[in-house]
Amino acid sequence: MQNLMNDLLQLFQKDVPMIELSNAKPFLKWAGGKTQLLPEIRSRIPTNFNRYIEPFLGGGAVFLSLAPQEAFLTDANEELINCFRMVRDYPEELLRSVAKFKISEKEYYKIRGLEPSKLSCVYRAARFIYLNKTCFNGLYRVNKNGKFNVPFGKIKHCTLANPEIIFKANRVLKKSKLFVMDYLETLGKFAHRGDFIYLDPPYLPVGKFSDFKRYTKNFFYREDHERLAIICKELNQRGCKFLLSNSYHSFIISLYSSFKIEKVQANRFINCHGNKRGKIAELIITNY
Ligand SMILES: C[S@@+](CC[C@H](N)C(=O)[O-])C[C@H]1O[C@@H](n2cnc3c(N)ncnc32)[C@H](O)[C@@H]1O
Repeated sequence: MQNLMNDLLQLFQKDVPMIELSNAKPFLKWAGGKTQLLPEIRSRIPTNFNRYIEPFLGGGAVFLSLAPQEAFLTDANEELINCFRMVRDYPEELLRSVAKFKISEKEYYKIRGLEPSKLSCVYRAARFIYLNKTCFNGLYRVNKNGKFNVPFGKIKHCTLANPEIIFKANRVLKKSKLFVMDYLETLGKFAHRGDFIYLDPPYLPVGKFSDFKRYTKNFFYREDHERLAIICKELNQRGCKFLLSNSYHSFIISLYSSFKIEKVQANRFINCHGNKRGKIAELIITNY
């Protein structure tokens, strides 16, 4: 009986457009964030699919702007996923906790020195937002032991958490499932026929000031891009739809030559101080 109900539900869901555009936006600054590329990405999202899966969530710019009916959101960064969970489950408590921080160099290094696993989930998320907004250029970089090591950004005033942005994200996140996971596990466990997957891995570096950052204690190497391309072929055979963004690089083009590859222009910071913008070519790859 339960199986029959699930089948009927699935059939019904196939006829319902699975996205409505939302005006939620990221509550974090995230290197490689897709806000600048949103019009290009949104215009290519399929209108009908079962579940939305995003295995390299980061700041979640694409997910937040789409508000899919059912979403599986994962990232290898434990602090990031805890923060998204707290925005989904305890927004008021989170805002109260963030409001207690002072913006100063002394406070920054004191908060940075805390061991996240010993903190309550809400305070841990508040710490993450505080460090994200007051560190140098909003970078997320950890050392080999996984300890956050970005210096203070010499910021005097900033809005750590805007309640309107947090509550809009909270509403969009309500129906999402959030897990700390390597992308291989996410795609192996959750991606089924009819699902749509948005893939935004750490970009393959091009040039001196590329967006590539050490987000987790492991780098994302060329072999990881090769592995991801193999998985994309499997997803295609499984009957999933995917959209992948990456840097405009001949190596990436060669990995995805059997799919639709489009060159798009993104507005990005193009110098090492993060204060000069320019147009950079990037790739959008789809299997539909
Ligand atoms: C380019 S960012 C995603 C940016 C995001 N689309 C946005 O708009 O903010 C890449 C993300 O991949 C995550 N990541 C890196 N290696 C990973 C892995 N092996 N499995 C899952 N996530 C990983 C990083 O923590 C980072 O958040």
